[in-house]
Amino acid sequence: MSTLGRRPRRGRAGTLVREMLAETRWSADSLIQPYFVIDKPGVKQEIPGMPGIFRESPSEFLDSLDADVKLGIRRIMLFGVTARKSDTADSAYASDNPVVTVTREIRDRYGEDVLIFADVCLCAYTDHGHCGVVIDGKIDNDQTLPILSRVAVTLADAGVQWVAPSDMMDGRVGAIRSALDDAGHTDVGILAYVAKYASAYYGPFREAAESAPQFGDRRSYQMDFRNRREAHLELELDELEDADWVMVKPALPYLDIIADFRRQTSLPVAAYNVSGEYAAVKLLVKTGLADERSLVLENLTSIFRAGAQIVLTYHLRDILQHGWM
Ligand code: PBG
Ligand code: ZN
Repeated sequence: MSTLGRRPRRGRAGTLVREMLAETRWSADSLIQPYFVIDKPGVKQEIPGMPGIFRESPSEFLDSLDADVKLGIRRIMLFGVTARKSDTADSAYASDNPVVTVTREIRDRYGEDVLIFADVCLCAYTDHGHCGVVIDGKIDNDQTLPILSRVAVTLADAGVQWVAPSDMMDGRVGAIRSALDDAGHTDVGILAYVAKYASAYYGPFREAAESAPQFGDRRSYQMDFRNRREAHLELELDELEDADWVMVKPALPYLDIIADFRRQTSLPVAAYNVSGEYAAVKLLVKTGLADERSLVLENLTSIFRAGAQIVLTYHLRDILQHGWM
């Protein structure tokens, strides 16, 4: 006779029991698929390290989106890629910005059936590749804010429903909120990259967006990964500046920050499962040492379990295509 009373394994005895007790459940409705749109014609280039993810010209992108909408993708994040770079990032708010071009077309084709999020930053449009304007060799916070605001209003004018500032300048959420409101875009939301860490996991993205800094690094604006309480300070400020949804980025190495946000705010919490996290999964799968579906579901479930309600992930198309859920 056993002397054990409690046996947690009873709760794991078979699928029927396990399915009853599963604490973390999520669906593809909580995921956003990112895209890179380039202003050169005739391009469809797979991004190094990111099999299945492309840089595409507007018409190639629209074909891909058609297929993705048929698969069930309804929420997308757009990034622009251009060779037209300058010290003041003017092409970021030009009317022929690739994101502006495709947004108009997406609105025409799908109306409200596709939710468009668009990145707001300068790094893909500045000649030096920094997320803000550089004056006397320094990233000038306050001179950057009006440019970011102008980019946000341009995107909203084109039909973007959510803008996502990823620059990490101080005061940007408030500046963008008032610019949007002044332009009559009170319905356009702000998905703020609140705690964006200076991370090595952005490597593949910078290749894709041609947005790597040409001098120095991003540590004077992106957060130091040794800091946890500082994320709370960023959260408090972005709440005061009326961010709608608050994001942590990257996701997997920062589950503690996601869990903190879940308790610290009543705003919806998002997490960005970034390019390097995706590339790492693809590399591991390529070795044949792990199964892709298992890795992807474990990774994404962990992000939701930590407290995220929304996840930006390059894996969404694979999940739907292969019916992994
Ligand atoms: C630009 C930006 C970056 C990412 C999103 N917006 C790169 C960076 O800050 O260098 C990274 C996304 C990814 O790696 O998937 N501000
Ligand atoms: Zn940037």
